[in-house]
Amino acid sequence: MRLVLLGPPGAGKGTHAQVLSKDLNAVHVSTGDMLRESLRAATPLGLKAKTYMEKGELVPDEVVIAMVAERLSKPDAAKGFILDGFPRTADQAKSLDKTLEALKMPLDSVLYFKTSLEVIVARLSGRRVCSKCGKTFHIRNFRPKVEGICDACGSALVQRPDDREETIKNRLEVYEKQTAPLIEYYQKQNNLEEVPGDLEVDPLQAFLKDLFIQKGTAKR
Ligand code: AP5
Ligand code: MG
Repeated sequence: MRLVLLGPPGAGKGTHAQVLSKDLNAVHVSTGDMLRESLRAATPLGLKAKTYMEKGELVPDEVVIAMVAERLSKPDAAKGFILDGFPRTADQAKSLDKTLEALKMPLDSVLYFKTSLEVIVARLSGRRVCSKCGKTFHIRNFRPKVEGICDACGSALVQRPDDREETIKNRLEVYEKQTAPLIEYYQKQNNLEEVPGDLEVDPLQAFLKDLFIQKGTAKR
């Protein structure tokens, strides 16, 4: 299965991509995670991305386009992939179409996580991530077993620097201006599936499971 998860910051793309990647046996490709990883490793790409990410701006198209094209050409992507956070601009979407055409791997569906502003703000302000492995939690919705500690690796949980109030506002503006037009782009391609992003984790996972069982692709 080849999917794009589209939606505003905090919609739950990363959370649900992790589950879908297991259920559908597809690789999870998150441009945000890849950029944060490069940042942790202090690579030239990471250092270039840092200034944009801190302000909640998009990293330049050519950087992310090349990163995704390289990732999708790796052998494991042939079994299926879930793109989380890419494409985010019209140019990224057009380049993805070209890359997938060349690889003969057309998209099956674009899941648009339609989410209200109130829910987005509550999710982003309460999100905590592991400082070591990057696993995501939430202070109310998805609590770790021990407060402030990652269930997976035992490291400290921190707030993402771009989850501070002033940066959230800018990220939402950037989303509306540069990414929201992709809803229409994929509607025109007859490829868009709307997902009720305001639902809590369990009912939303059940919704997604039903959707893919209908499509005959998920494990029961
Ligand atoms: P990125 O990391 O992609 O951030 P984003 O798109 O802003 O999205 P988020 O990761 O904030 O939200 P999410 O939808 O994944 O929500 P999550 O599942 O964590 O990008 C970061 C930056 O990198 C960008 O600003 C940009 O600078 C750069 N970048 C990345 N891709 C780029 C690109 N293509 N082009 C250019 N620049 C790019 O959930 C949020 C919280 O809510 C969590 O705490 C979670 O536990 C909780 N939660 C999730 N779902 C539910 C639910 N259903 N019910 C209750 N709680 C929930
Ligand atoms: Mg994410």
